[in-house]
Amino acid sequence: VHVVGLVADALSKVDCGDARAFIQRFSVPYEFPVYFTRDIFSDANHILSEAMGQPVSGRRRRVVFFLDEGLIREMPDLPRRIAAYVGARGDTMELAGPVETIEGGERCKNDPQLVEHLQRKLVSCGMDRHAYVVAVGGGALLDLVGYVAATTHRGIRHIRIPTTVLAQNDSGVGVKNGVNAFGFKNMLGTFVPPVAVINDSAFIDVLPGRDKRAGMAEAVKVALIRDGAFFDWLEEKAEALALFASEPLDRLIRHCALLHMRQISTGGDPFERGSGRPLDFGHWSAHKLEALSGYELRHGEAVAIGIAIDTRYSVLAGLMPPGADVRVRALLERLGFNLWHPACDLRREIDGQRLVLAGLEEFREHLGGELTITLLKSLGTSVDVHEMDHALLDEAIEWLRPRDGIR
Ligand SMILES: NC(=O)c1ccc[n+]([C@@H]2O[C@H](COP(=O)([O-])OP(=O)(O)OC[C@H]3O[C@@H](n4cnc5c(N)ncnc54)[C@H](O)[C@@H]3O)[C@@H](O)[C@H]2O)c1
Ligand SMILES: [Zn+2]
Repeated sequence: VHVVGLVADALSKVDCGDARAFIQRFSVPYEFPVYFTRDIFSDANHILSEAMGQPVSGRRRRVVFFLDEGLIREMPDLPRRIAAYVGARGDTMELAGPVETIEGGERCKNDPQLVEHLQRKLVSCGMDRHAYVVAVGGGALLDLVGYVAATTHRGIRHIRIPTTVLAQNDSGVGVKNGVNAFGFKNMLGTFVPPVAVINDSAFIDVLPGRDKRAGMAEAVKVALIRDGAFFDWLEEKAEALALFASEPLDRLIRHCALLHMRQISTGGDPFERGSGRPLDFGHWSAHKLEALSGYELRHGEAVAIGIAIDTRYSVLAGLMPPGADVRVRALLERLGFNLWHPACDLRREIDGQRLVLAGLEEFREHLGGELTITLLKSLGTSVDVHEMDHALLDEAIEWLRPRDGIR
């Protein structure tokens, strides 16, 4: 009885009617580095081995690599270079299995068998909770591998090496992972921060222009909600960025990544328990348009359209002065985005309502609670609303329709 009393005294309690509750309380601090480097697998680069920390009690760190096939097409000798990198550090690390290449892009998030295949692979390689899973690839592959690592052994450490603009400046530096399921994007997933993120600019050099551009949409997004000066800078550099000049593109990636990191660490809701999600400005329609286009639209391309819709809506709803919308549309077009896709025009039979509008309710359901949509007050400041007027949205979408002689 005495021992029970001691334990009970150490816990805080609340009385509620006839019952007494003992409150379980602890907090887990999270911290991980985001490196910016070049040629991570060159012999002189020690960042990856540093990120894994010192071997514990003399045991070598076991590591498995999953690589994006799209990247390997551009860098066919990467698997060999990775094996050489690990081999050269044989006193501290070892490959637990052969370096594996997986199909990248959205398709890898749509295949439940692939999830199981990778989980089984980690088990058969004898990966334990002290081992490291390293994912090298685009946002889709990082989401998939992060999910596989988070669910095997209740969580194996994972390191992200993002290889697209979007993954380096947005998805890769965040805390979410997941796969698509039951017809919905990101339906299965977890919030699990990585051990480290390593952004290597050499991977961006070989990325096709289409994906370089797609990732810039997230920079425009975060500038619009948080950083007006960054928006001005993007306007100033638009022509150079549209030509993928490496100096401004490098700066765009770094600044955008830091803005995302700051929002996650100081925004007060890193694991999205509330109903709002400012970093998803423009995303309620983007996610829907991606699906409606049969994933013909890249995530970033759909986000560019979504940003334009919600910016125009912010003006139509009287939240932001007219003219700001014209600047945003012009910037996106100067960056080379096409702000119209036939998916914008798909309508349901019964009443002719645009199918994209269903994205509002799906967005609400995903977060739970009240509908919360981030809109703009100015170029750099956001405001949350809880209702969206369908007629105004229709008008905002029409504003993007290309017209001969005008655009
Ligand atoms: N977890 C999050 O917080 C978060 C946030 C935003 C987006 N996302 C997700 O990220 C995904 C989009 O990521 P993405 O834009 O990086 O596209 P992606 O992962 O679909 O990659 C696009 C294409 O580029 C190829 N590729 C990757 N790196 C390459 C390189 N260096 N050279 C040549 N080809 C390369 C891939 O194989 C793929 O074909 C979506 O699934 C989206 O939902 C997740
Ligand atoms: Zn996004």
